[in-house]
Amino acid sequence: MTVQTRPPRLQSAEGEVQQPRVFDSTTNPEALRAPQGMPMAMATRDLAVHYAAFLAVRGVDLAVARNKITALIGPSGCGKSTVLRCFNRMNDLIPTAQVSGKVELDGVDIYAPDIDPVEVRRKVGMVFQKPNPFPKTIYENVAWGARINGYRGRMDDLVEDALQRAALWDEVKDKLQASGLSLSGGQQQRLCIARAIAVRPEIILMDEPCSALDPIATLRIEELMQTLKSDYTIVIVTHNMQQAARASDYTAFFSVGSQRDGYLVEFGPTAELFTNPVDPRTEDYITGRFG
Ligand SMILES: Nc1ncnc2c1ncn2[C@@H]1O[C@H](COP(=O)(O)OP(=O)(O)OP(=O)(O)O)[C@@H](O)[C@H]1O
Ligand SMILES: [Mg+2]
Repeated sequence: MTVQTRPPRLQSAEGEVQQPRVFDSTTNPEALRAPQGMPMAMATRDLAVHYAAFLAVRGVDLAVARNKITALIGPSGCGKSTVLRCFNRMNDLIPTAQVSGKVELDGVDIYAPDIDPVEVRRKVGMVFQKPNPFPKTIYENVAWGARINGYRGRMDDLVEDALQRAALWDEVKDKLQASGLSLSGGQQQRLCIARAIAVRPEIILMDEPCSALDPIATLRIEELMQTLKSDYTIVIVTHNMQQAARASDYTAFFSVGSQRDGYLVEFGPTAELFTNPVDPRTEDYITGRFG
């Protein structure tokens, strides 16, 4: 499907080009401040997603810096989860979803015909909004992914390492055979992070990972993200603007157009986006006037 992602420039009778009154990210390049001089883990170019005939998100040019935390924010329905799912081809699992444009992982187009989506999902792990441990032991929750990926090392060491990295080891080391479902919500979410880490991904995607957690468990996850970023690249969707402001290095703000079409309004270093936004729509959103 061909997608018109850039609105046509308006031509007046005199032939001079007029800018649209409300500009759009694709006509406001100043609002796209890609990380400078840094290795990129992922990048999108003109990314668009349809669900059947509905254009859910369009024209997304985004760069994800390696070993940094990138936050996606914006009002409900603007396409944050949709964009996040493009990063590991999870939209492949939705039959009506159609992705166009490019998504690159380490410079390679992950939608190219010779790419194995299973391998993409190993490299780009995902943690969901609601903690979803398997109804298995804590140990098995962590070991499972590694085992199906053919891990041949010492499983006990791998499980301990992943639980240590997820800051859960001390709380569960004496009950590894207990059910993952017997843990608290915050512990379950850290177990899901351990499970994601155990297959040695490069990138961890998190879709509102704290929205089911209390403030203390939320802070725990935020602290954990800060330690994880030395080894991983993290992309997080959050509705909590304080969380984006305090926990992320870069922020992408999305909005929705008149046809419920989501698009990227502004992207840049978090501190700049929150203190000195380029686009007035970003300012309206972060100051609570919209959304
Ligand atoms: N499986 C689907 N089939 C059809 N439409 C979908 C599907 N998933 C999402 N959409 C639509 O795509 C648009 C973007 O949805 P998405 O879930 O990406 O938004 P979001 O920004 O993550 O919202 P929220 O903050 O509420 O989680 C919405 O209009 C939504 O209704
Ligand atoms: Mg969502």
